[in-house]
Amino acid sequence: MKQGWLIVNGFLDSPKFDEIYNWILSAAKENDVELRKLTNDQVTSILPISTGKTDWKAKPDFVLFWDKDVKLARMLEAEGFQVFNKADAIEACDDKSLTFIKLKETDIPMPVTFNAPLTFESKYPDYTFLLQVENKLGYPMVIKKNEGSFGNEVFLAKDFNEAAHIAEKLGPNSFIMQEYIESSKGKSARLQVVGSEVITSMKLTNEEDFKSNVTGGGKMEKYEPTSEEKEIAIKACEKLGLDFAGVDIIWNEDDKPLLCEINSNAHFKNIFDCTGVDAADAIIKYILKKI
Ligand SMILES: Nc1ncnc2c1ncn2[C@@H]1O[C@H](COP(=O)(O)OP(=O)(O)O)[C@@H](O)[C@H]1O
Ligand SMILES: [Mg+2]
Repeated sequence: MKQGWLIVNGFLDSPKFDEIYNWILSAAKENDVELRKLTNDQVTSILPISTGKTDWKAKPDFVLFWDKDVKLARMLEAEGFQVFNKADAIEACDDKSLTFIKLKETDIPMPVTFNAPLTFESKYPDYTFLLQVENKLGYPMVIKKNEGSFGNEVFLAKDFNEAAHIAEKLGPNSFIMQEYIESSKGKSARLQVVGSEVITSMKLTNEEDFKSNVTGGGKMEKYEPTSEEKEIAIKACEKLGLDFAGVDIIWNEDDKPLLCEINSNAHFKNIFDCTGVDAADAIIKYILKKI
């Protein structure tokens, strides 16, 4: 019987996350895998980052890393564990700015996007960069915190003052400014990738908001992605070294797909409710093939 660790965040107190962990644990059981749930703080506190070998009594065959503690994932890789997703891949997804930078050399189409410049001050002493960026993007302008989920940290600024206000609220260095794709208002697709395959997908629509996230009231429907959309999702995952991910796609006025963002630990409950496809089962089966 194969053995694995499921690493989760020990400081997250959320039934929504617990449901996902329990789901993964039962998917493992159904596939005859003994999966043990451990929290990032538990493991971090027994694993010194200083030199010296750790004496692991029993090493699991794999680690399913359902957290964003990238440093811990990296430590586990340094200790010789086989970690899914890999630390680099989680890091690249957890930061929307880094995702685009790492994919810049590909031909994957994306909305025009600028990074927030680094300042050592607690807020930007001046916003000349925003004047430059607004020349390229115009308004409304999408501003996203680099690390955000469920649409919670994605905003639409209607003018310079609003953009500067959002930037100030988010804090310097931590956001991107992006072309607003009006044609995709309240619409997106979620493609669930496992390995080099899109295992299922859904379309999301919200009539009341430009953001289509289910958490914000987006309605789900089954969706058959085009080959171009599948190619974007698979290519992006391959380039970032992701074993599995939820890829968000939006559409420009010519109905051409654009990469919106990638989620390394995509919640798979909604897509299961919509399509009946169980990503947790697919992920466990994929890992069993890889180890
Ligand atoms: N540039 C954009 N133009 C139009 N709509 C967008 C744009 N970026 C994001 N959205 C909408 O906002 C939603 C949330 O943005 P996303 O980047 O996926 O962040 P999150 O990680 O919070 O889900 C998307 O699903 C999409 O509906
Ligand atoms: Mg999203």
